[in-house]
Amino acid sequence: MVRTVENILQKKYIAKDDIMMLLALKKAGSEELFKRAHDLKTAMVGRKVFFRGLIEYSNICTKNCFYCGIRMDNGRYQRYTLSDEEVLEAARYASDNNFASIVIQSGEQSSKAFSNSIENLLRKIHSATNSSLHITLSLGEQTEETYKRWYSAGAHRYLLRIEVSNPALYAKLHPADQRHTHLARLASLSLLRKSGFQVGTGVMIGLPFQTMADLADDLCFFRDFDIDMVGMGPYIEHEDTPLWEYRNLIPSAAERVQLSIKMVAILRIIMPDINIAATTAMQTLDPRGREQAIYAGANVIMPNLTPVKYRDNYLLYENKPNVKDEPEETRIALEKHIRAAGDEIGYGEWGDSRHFINRE
Ligand code: 5AD
Ligand code: SF4
Repeated sequence: MVRTVENILQKKYIAKDDIMMLLALKKAGSEELFKRAHDLKTAMVGRKVFFRGLIEYSNICTKNCFYCGIRMDNGRYQRYTLSDEEVLEAARYASDNNFASIVIQSGEQSSKAFSNSIENLLRKIHSATNSSLHITLSLGEQTEETYKRWYSAGAHRYLLRIEVSNPALYAKLHPADQRHTHLARLASLSLLRKSGFQVGTGVMIGLPFQTMADLADDLCFFRDFDIDMVGMGPYIEHEDTPLWEYRNLIPSAAERVQLSIKMVAILRIIMPDINIAATTAMQTLDPRGREQAIYAGANVIMPNLTPVKYRDNYLLYENKPNVKDEPEETRIALEKHIRAAGDEIGYGEWGDSRHFINRE
């Protein structure tokens, strides 16, 4: 049988070689792919986009990933941790505006003090907002005990990007030490699942040394792991990182965005009931990137609720957008864009991953 887009899209199980063909599609073919993903999203999760208010809790990080602007060895940024009151204010904003959900993200820290602070904070957030919010954590690799304590204190979802599913590529993008192993990252994902969380992961797209086969493997990895949520977006170079040196090896910004949207669309097709985020990195490289991702299957967006004065210090990559925008401006702009695209916002709904609910 000839391998046309239509043929592939009709298959019950789309295997790696077909995924690679979809990733290589030019404009006309991708439009067919996007339309199919759009229709599936409409049928499986509805045309609703859920807000997760993003709180960048601390930029202190004990790791040195080669791609990341807030890596420990970068002395350019002032390191900060929000006070509990600052977090509570952002959480109240989310609750008052019916976001129904927040994400607490930070660089990776593994001290007992950090783990205790988060546990206390979770309880305070629930009591300040009458448990109206579902809380997602994105705080890196931790021990099983810590994951369990945070879960008991009221966090229900956890995001931990695998970054790349190919272990050899992972080794190229991280220091060769015990704090940066692909195995530990995988083990953490399993612990999170075991601890009861809805588990999210993700990858960067368009990294130096990354191939189309790697990206197809990333999508197969999400499916094989039976993940509940995915956040992925283009890699964006940052001058203060070791990977900057290889910036001539990466695809153009436009190609990285297109590739990211194709990844979203294929993922919606192979895992129709999961939650998929339209990430900030997509918008960084193309002002319409996030809307295109929403059309092609994404159903989650993470408006930034970090107090504006800290934002310049949480620059994982260059040209991060909206660093000066107050939460209210962001909310109004997003609402306008999402409505213009014909979707509505899932105000007041937790928007849990249907995939997770169906598995339970
Ligand atoms: N470009 C794009 N994404 C990045 N991240 C870190 N550095 C970069 C970069 N230069 C992503 C990683 C990490 C998440 C918090 O941000 O995937 O998991
Ligand atoms: Fe730290 Fe995460 Fe950046 Fe790695 S990607 S340096 S763990 S903040």
